[in-house]
Amino acid sequence: MRIILYTGKGGVGKTTLSAATALRSAELGHRTLVISTDIAHSLTDSLDAALTNEPQPVGPTGLWAAELDTGDELERYWGNIKRRIAEALRKQGVQAPVAGELAILPGLDEILALVRIKRYVEEGEYDALIIDSAPTGAAMRLLGAPDLQRWYTRHLAGLSSGLTRLLIPSLQKTIKLPLSESLIQGQIQQLFDEVKRLREILTDSRQTSVRLVLNPDHLSVQETQRAYTYMSLFGLAVDALFVNRILPTEIEDPFFEHWKADQADHIENIHETFAPLPVFQVSLMRREVRGIEALSALAQELYAEQDPTELLSQEQPLRFSMENGHYIMALRLAGVPAGAVELDKDGNELHVRLGRFRRSLILPQVLAALEPAWAQVEGQELRVAFREPAG
Ligand SMILES: Nc1ncnc2c1ncn2[C@@H]1O[C@H](COP(=O)(O)OP(=O)(O)OP(=O)(O)O)[C@@H](O)[C@H]1O
Ligand SMILES: [Mg+2]
Repeated sequence: MRIILYTGKGGVGKTTLSAATALRSAELGHRTLVISTDIAHSLTDSLDAALTNEPQPVGPTGLWAAELDTGDELERYWGNIKRRIAEALRKQGVQAPVAGELAILPGLDEILALVRIKRYVEEGEYDALIIDSAPTGAAMRLLGAPDLQRWYTRHLAGLSSGLTRLLIPSLQKTIKLPLSESLIQGQIQQLFDEVKRLREILTDSRQTSVRLVLNPDHLSVQETQRAYTYMSLFGLAVDALFVNRILPTEIEDPFFEHWKADQADHIENIHETFAPLPVFQVSLMRREVRGIEALSALAQELYAEQDPTELLSQEQPLRFSMENGHYIMALRLAGVPAGAVELDKDGNELHVRLGRFRRSLILPQVLAALEPAWAQVEGQELRVAFREPAG
């Protein structure tokens, strides 16, 4: 089963593109399930069908859709811990609904939604699973943590001091949470086993592709660069970018002149920044894109004759690894320009110059705290090693 995740900043068009892609996939004869892991549940709106937690047929033959509600999973993997935390908080005077809310770790519901993916993979009822993914990416980050279990255990240990003091300032002293490490381990061992397997699925670039959706504006491009860096860091393969809401050429109203020129600049920049990944473009439609017919028209503009469930690219132009205790960042070069590599690090941005080649990269936090040690070209790759700053 192919797994395709559409993700990006809030409001850029993730749900619309997921729905349109799923529709095209079903039209091409693939048994397709589209799900939303977003609690805002906009897939219902987009497909104009009342969806539930379990997949149900919508639109053309071969298309199913669901809006995930992870209540069952939450109870199974987290119920006991949640009740203990909530009870402790209530004893300290925190109102019950608030206590229940605080007892859920950030990112957990997203993780649980992703665990559902594993179920669909194992059941094998679909050829393609299209995921309209929540914009935070918190789950990706957690999935990428090499030792997720330790991370959670540590976080829970720190929960009593940090969280309660921060969120409940009226409580002078911090609350001692009745959570032993063995309780945590016992309850969530199974979840972590599942997450481990899930990570294998998501980082298998033949099975899972991430598609970054963006709009041609400054903030969106920045955010996408950051997302791309983290996806690469965590070993998730991005196989294409989707630039949505491009002003159509037929708009000649002078009011939009600057908008159009700026958009053109951003699109050029997107091509350069993410080369050699393919960049798909979608224009701004005459109205909101809702319902099967409108989605199908959008899919036609987007993919024409192409099958969107195929791997759109096999390139992974940015990779991170650990070698001899050094973090290595490897960037694929399209043709190797001659000249010496010049690096200039400015906070979390790294500017690379090599002959006529110029690129600005957003570094993940772990590398932003270090400094480049050396850079060299090896084959088609520029490799940069990082080290602790001197002193
Ligand atoms: N190319 C387009 N032309 C016209 N309207 C569009 C286009 N793409 C998306 N829209 C509309 O913009 C709105 C937001 O799109 P969508 O819900 O797909 O974004 P999203 O990234 O999923 O948002 P969120 O982050 O809130 O989940 C919707 O009303 C949708 O119909
Ligand atoms: Mg959405």
